[in-house]
Amino acid sequence: MKDKRDLFGRLLSQVKESTSGPGSREEKLLAVCQMLRDQVRHYHWVGFYLVGESKEDLILGPYVGEPTRHTKISFGHGVCGMAAEKRRTLMVPDVSKVRNYLSCSPKVQSEIVVPIFKDGAIVGELDIDSHAAAAFKGQDRVFLEEVCEELASLF
Ligand code: SME
Repeated sequence: MKDKRDLFGRLLSQVKESTSGPGSREEKLLAVCQMLRDQVRHYHWVGFYLVGESKEDLILGPYVGEPTRHTKISFGHGVCGMAAEKRRTLMVPDVSKVRNYLSCSPKVQSEIVVPIFKDGAIVGELDIDSHAAAAFKGQDRVFLEEVCEELASLF
């Protein structure tokens, strides 16, 4: 537990450094994907979906992991679309139990989706898949919500 808290504390500092440093939003979001996937053992696919111009769908942004065919997801569809519609973090311990689930790899067993808000409006989401069942705990949620609060400054 303490190890994880230390790791998340270090990573949050790195995210803050990265967001305030040079580079485009795309580059910074990609750097965050790489940082999270490389340093957290149970994060296997890490990516962003950005709210499209219609404000009714999510467009795949920077990501690290296997390619996905879900490049555009309507609000309400899949875990990502549900999180956008409900405007809150969704943690799915067992993706096989979600009727609405959009699979990007048969290896994925659990998922977390965290919205990014700017001035009260949802502008994107951080989506993380794990090959382990029930991989995401309260500590992950708190950490990833802090990461997304920090990333809001890029929008
Ligand atoms: N599983 C997501 C789709 C995105 S892929 O995992 C990259 C969903 O159900 O919305």
